[in-house]
Parts: sequence; structure tokens; C-alpha cells
Amino acid sequence: MCGIIGYAGKAGAEEFLLQGLKRLEYRGYDSAGIAVLDENEIQVVKCQGTLEKLEKRLRQERARGYLGIGHTRWATHGVPSDTNSHPHQDCQERFALVHNGIIENYQTLKADLKSAGHSFCSETDTEVLVHLLEEIHQGEMVTALRELQNRLVGSYALAVVDNREPDKIYALRQESPLVIGLGEEENYLASDMPALLNATSKFHILEDGDLAVLSENDISIFSSEGKEVKADIFQADWDDEMVQKQGYDHFMLKEIYEQPTVARRLLSAYLEPDRVNLPELTEIWDDEIDRVLITACGTAYYSGLAGRHILEELANLPVEVEIASELRYKKNFLDDKSLLLVVSQSGETADTLAALKLGKNSGSRVLALTNTIGSSIAREADAVIDLKAGPEIAVASTKAYLAMLTAFYLTGIKLAGLRATLPERELHSYRQELLKLPEKITAALDRVEESSRKAADYLKDYNSMFYIGRNLDYSLALEGALKLKEISFLHAEAYPAGELKHGTLALVEEGVPVMAIFTRRGLVSKTLSNVKEVKARGGKVIAIATAGTVEDKAEFDKFIELPACNELWAGVLTVLPLQLLAYHTAHRLGCSIDKPRNLAKSVTVE
Ligand code: M6R
Repeated sequence: MCGIIGYAGKAGAEEFLLQGLKRLEYRGYDSAGIAVLDENEIQVVKCQGTLEKLEKRLRQERARGYLGIGHTRWATHGVPSDTNSHPHQDCQERFALVHNGIIENYQTLKADLKSAGHSFCSETDTEVLVHLLEEIHQGEMVTALRELQNRLVGSYALAVVDNREPDKIYALRQESPLVIGLGEEENYLASDMPALLNATSKFHILEDGDLAVLSENDISIFSSEGKEVKADIFQADWDDEMVQKQGYDHFMLKEIYEQPTVARRLLSAYLEPDRVNLPELTEIWDDEIDRVLITACGTAYYSGLAGRHILEELANLPVEVEIASELRYKKNFLDDKSLLLVVSQSGETADTLAALKLGKNSGSRVLALTNTIGSSIAREADAVIDLKAGPEIAVASTKAYLAMLTAFYLTGIKLAGLRATLPERELHSYRQELLKLPEKITAALDRVEESSRKAADYLKDYNSMFYIGRNLDYSLALEGALKLKEISFLHAEAYPAGELKHGTLALVEEGVPVMAIFTRRGLVSKTLSNVKEVKARGGKVIAIATAGTVEDKAEFDKFIELPACNELWAGVLTVLPLQLLAYHTAHRLGCSIDKPRNLAKSVTVE
């Protein structure tokens, strides 16, 4: 979604802002712009389209100065166009403002402002903010922004500059992320930490309601009650190298091959030979808890569907999984006997955050599985498992999904211990097997690279395909189909294998690819029957299985074999060829892999 960047220092603001916007590109955008202050003049350069286009414009209309703000826009209110791009300005062009989020009452405000004589040039909700500021500013920005805040309904992270205070950037945060980065004689503002890792690893994360004032040598933060807050500066354990492609053609491929390291990092943080080290979960656990509810969106939701099988089998608890955008509207669903597991790579997904708040208000204990420490979800939750995947830049989530599954394994073993559902001997052997997972992931990547490429050669010629599996394998099928859809733009649907004959089989004809997943020995013969139904109608079957799971491979047109693995952990291996298949198919089709059309990395609006 939209990205915000701000710079106050001694170097050229224009170059810093442009580079920062490039680092925010991965969030998804359709237009971009910057505002730079030169003495008492605000120069705004903005356009619809890519940052290359903005860069070209900046060569013609230079914006020189030492302080400024920038923005990448992902259109919500009004089409992508030059006029709808941010920054927006008031009638007198005294202020320039950028915004991420949605102002729900913008139509009423706009009507009032129009009656008061303000004229608008865009269709955005954002432009209302800057005219409202012009209307209420009586000489003191902090007071004016507080007044502005009182009049707004919705979510926002915003940054504003004033040509009468050319050494300051003002920022406000309400339900949309905003971080401050601290440098030597310069300070920065951004929607997320990766945007600033080239400049600093020292951050302060703004809380909802916070107002911040940044200048070259100073930052001041005020809470929603107006009290000055001491900056809570922390050192990020992410570095700039982590947000580089490191020789790979795409971030997605780099992130796929990083997965053994991710699993190793996560396991070494939380797993010891004789215990799962999750004290926060022990602290919030209560024997009265009688169910687990998992909530998330997209890939994180699919990890939850896999997580359900893991937790049910290990901890013997009823587990439900709800899409966050649905859960948030449910009534009387959560209570103080529920453990709510909230899963989110970014930690900022608006629907997931809303579901978390609903859980907390209902008295549920909340455990967050997130890759972003300091994110809203991490801060709101009662306990957190840091996924430790490192910054994920490609829109299509890969390494974070693997980390989520691994975190479910850890949670499952921990809950099994807390609930004494399995004997210590068995838990010990699960832990031992889990410690071997990173090596297995490396071996699996080596083994499936070639076969996934070959399967992609076949898939690229079909515009529709199906993924089938039973139980855990169905949840993996869903993730495989989502990966293919989002980056190759081919139509892919996942079905529980037994469901195909209840309708969708009508779409299977000569050559239609059907991906069949086998990791559960007890279910092989059942899914094989469904494979036969596909073959009888001319479908082409690409099977993925862990070694030793399927003996009869006669019906498979292509076979991708994974190293042998404990059934419960097989998900992290199976997802690898699914990711590679999607990647190589999209590559052959010439798609924009890291930034697929219409999608944003961090979905901070409902
Ligand atoms: O940051 P989150 O994990 O909360 O994001 C949830 C989804 O938006 C995300 O997983 C999305 O589905 C990915 N593009 C999938 O690859």
C-alpha cells in the first residue's frame, strides 16, 4: 500500500527521498511524488506511474533542499493520475502533505470546506486533510494537528511540511504504520524500517495517536493526550544487505533460497534439544483455555489452515481458522477461554489487526506470529513469536510462510507439553526431528529445482489449473494455487481432493493440469482415486510427494519427489516446489514477479 518517506538533514533531500521511495516500491504503488523545502518555498514534483518516470521529471524540475517528504500511492479514492498523486497542497500552497490510510468522513469534510471557499483539484480523501489544516491552522502546527485529529474518522499515517517552518516535518499516526529513523545530524521518517536501513538501524516506532516533530538534530514525540513521550529507540537486527537481491534475478527467488537459513534462525531462537523455549506462551497459557482460534489473511491464513492440523494432532485441542476480514464482524465468537493466534508477516494488515483487537476485547489471550517486531500486531498481542525471516520484499510471500509453519510446529510441541497430551519421549523425538529441518529444506531445494522448472514449462501453456490434496495437503494446495495466481496471473484453484467430483471435475478436459499433493501416507489411496478420475477425463497430473509416501506412480505425468520427512513437518518441504513452480511459470510468461499487478505487500486498509 502507500509508502511515506521523510528526510531532515544536511544532504540533498531529493536524492534521499527518491532512494527511500525505491525501497518502498515493494509495498505496491501506482504513482509517486515528493515535496522539498528550499528556504521558504515548497517544490512539489509528482506523477502517475513508475519511480523512473518521477526520476525523469526530477531531472527537468529539480527539487533542491535539505528537508522533504515523499510518497508512493496505491490508489483507493480516485484513479492513478498526476493530480491524485501525493503530496497534496492547500489553496495557498503553504503546506504539502502525504498520507497513507483512509479518511472515512472525507466527504462531509470536503463539502464543509468547499462551502468555506476551498477549491480541490483531486478526487482523493487526502486532499481534504491539507485544506482542513489550512482552515484550522492559527499559527501553531502542533495545536492545529491535534484539532485536525479530533475531526478525522479513519486511519492515517501522515507527514506534512509548512513553508513557514522549513526545518521541520510534522507527522501523525493513527492505525497506519510510521517509524522514525535516527541518524547523525539527520533524522528520517518512513512507513517501514526496510526503507531506511541504508541510513540507520536505530528506530522509534510511533504509537496510535502520536504526533512527531522531526528536524535535523531533534525529534519530539507527543502522545494523544498531549504529553511529551521519550523516544523508545531500538536497534533493528535487520541490515541493508538483507534488502538487496544479492545476485538473484528477483527477490522472490532469493527469498525462496533463503529458507534453510530462515528455519535455522527461527529454530535456534526457540528450540533446544530438551525444550521449546517460548516463555511468553507459558505465561499467557491457562488450563481453562479450551480452544484455539487462528486468524490471518492470504498466505498467512493458509499457514493457519496447515497450523490447525499441527496443533490438533500435537496438542489435541479444537482449532478453528477464520479469515481476519470475516472474523472481525463476528459476534460472541471469542471469549476468555480462547487462545487467539494472529498470524501476519508485516504485522500491519488492517483486517488482522482488527480481528486481534476484537479478540482482546472479548477477553481472549493473543499470541502473534509475526515477522515484524515493533509492528502494530506485535505490540497489541499478549505474546509474540518473532518469525525471524528477515525483511520479505517480494509481494508473494515465501520465506515468511515457511517461518509461519515452523512457528506452528514449535507452538504445537509447546502446547502438547503444557497440556501433557504426549509423553516426553515422543516430544523429545519431535524436537530432534525439527532440529534437522533446515538440512532437509536445503536438500529438498536441490532436489526439486530441475523438476519444478520442467513442470513450469508445461504449466505456462495453460490458463487454468487445479491443485488437490486432502487434510494438511489441501492447505498446501491452497498456498500453491495462490502463489501461481498472484505472480503468473493464471487461473488456479485448490480443492480438497474429494470435492473435485462434486462439480469442478466438469472443467477437467484434455491436457488440463492438476497438481496432486501427497504427504500423508494414510490418505494416499484416497487421493490416488481422485487422480484416476482426473486421468479418465484427459487431465495431466503433476504429483508432489515426500519419498516413500506413494508407491504407485503410474498415473502421474510428472512427478516431483521430496526427501523423506516426518509427515507432520512435510509442509515446509512441499511448499518449496509449489513456490518454484509459480516462480518459473511466471518467469517464462514474462510477468513482473516481485511486484505483481494490483497487489500490495502490506495491506494497511480494510
Ligand atoms: O503481512 P500479512 O502476512 O498479514 O499479509 C497477509 C496477506 O496480505 C499476504 O499473505 C498476501 O496474501 C501475500 N501476497 C501472499 O503471497
